[in-house]
Amino acid sequence: MNVASLLCDELGKNQVLTKDHPYLAPYSRDESGLGDFHPDCVALCESAEQVSIVLRLAQEHNIPVTPRGAGTGMTGGCLPVYGGIVLSTERMNKIIDIDTKNSIAIVQPGTIVSTIQDAVEEQGLFYPPDPASLKTCSIGGNIASNAGGPRAFKYGVTREYVLGLHMGLMGGELLRCGKQTTKGVTGYDLTAGFVGSEGTFGVVTEATIKLLPLPQSTALLLALFQNETSCSNAIDQLLHQGFHPRAIELMDRNTLMHMTSSDIDLSSHWAVLIELDGEPNTLETITIHIGELLEKNNAIDVIVARDERDRRRLWSIRRACSKSLRNAHQYKISEDICVPRGSIGELFKRIDSIPTPSDLSIATFGHAGDGNLHVNILADSEEATKHIEPFVHALFEHTIALKGTLSGEHGIGLSKKQYMPLEQTPQVIAWQKKWKHMWDPNNLLNPGKIFPDDNGKTFPIASRRCPE
Ligand code: MLT
Ligand code: ZN
Repeated sequence: MNVASLLCDELGKNQVLTKDHPYLAPYSRDESGLGDFHPDCVALCESAEQVSIVLRLAQEHNIPVTPRGAGTGMTGGCLPVYGGIVLSTERMNKIIDIDTKNSIAIVQPGTIVSTIQDAVEEQGLFYPPDPASLKTCSIGGNIASNAGGPRAFKYGVTREYVLGLHMGLMGGELLRCGKQTTKGVTGYDLTAGFVGSEGTFGVVTEATIKLLPLPQSTALLLALFQNETSCSNAIDQLLHQGFHPRAIELMDRNTLMHMTSSDIDLSSHWAVLIELDGEPNTLETITIHIGELLEKNNAIDVIVARDERDRRRLWSIRRACSKSLRNAHQYKISEDICVPRGSIGELFKRIDSIPTPSDLSIATFGHAGDGNLHVNILADSEEATKHIEPFVHALFEHTIALKGTLSGEHGIGLSKKQYMPLEQTPQVIAWQKKWKHMWDPNNLLNPGKIFPDDNGKTFPIASRRCPE
């Protein structure tokens, strides 16, 4: 039985990429750098009905299906590790409605997140979640991974904005759950359960998202410090005094050393980027206060964005972190651990204490406001990659010891599944597996993700090479 021809018959030839198709290759990888996993074919669905057809055929013929948004995930969540069908929602990319009266939008899963943000902002509304890939990632993928981003510090993550979902379920059933109101406690919250399920429960075919009023204005400051202790103390003071920025981002010295294109001298410093929003006059006063507070707390320099151009320039430093590290090194593993914010100082100490061979270097940046840091392990030779796994293991052990979690925003996917038992008890894992079994008894939907394999099979970290 040929999967592709089954799909061609039911969907039409233009919506199926067969194994030998020149455009199939990109669907075998994502931004995790875990390697290439070729599917047998790709279904480019254009409607909920077509999603249903794919899920029905897959169930009938016992074929694995891996849902895929825009392929920007960093944990291998959309890699078809067991082959079969990749179900792409990229063609379902319409904003169906922006309801300004009720501050909600109805969107298809393939819509790019920044497209939604731009469209609602034109109407005076605001969709806060802002993962670094917002110009290329899709809302369906953000829902699957419960994406975050810098503004999550003030506004929370994707789950807080998803009011209702239309889902395609394994076997082909279409389910509508949730609500169009911002309050609503009728029955169990199935919608919340689907968010963050990493494409293992069902496939999003439509989402109703909550919008906020667009903040009137924003202010942005970049403060440079000599060391991590000064950064942490300044952030502690800031929050202790009751300020609530929408983002507090931190970049360590090693990350900044890679920022060669910036016109600001960043080398040998640590940096904290602070963004606030609110009413313009109040914001101006608050910005002055925060600038003074940062200087009192040993900031070497505080740069305040004067206009939109400045703002873009300062944000571009932070937005370029991942790319600059990737361009400079042959191997880059980005973790996204999260610790209680007050433990960041201790976490940095513990990172420094992990034995690090001279052929590995560590660069850390991320969302300091909520304790979610991207610890990047960098290597430049195949030989050096064998030291990565022990480093990651030690990092995760320290994270858990500090009452943190393995993943603050990227999800578990393929890359972290073998570490789940470090954080969660067998009982907690068993209940999650029962939950998964309820939606997908034959384990055909995005198999091989989140949970450690019973047969002990893992994907060696040494293969986690960044894509060229
Ligand atoms: C970020 O905050 O820049 C992203 O989550 C991506 C990354 O980990 O590099
Ligand atoms: Zn991040």
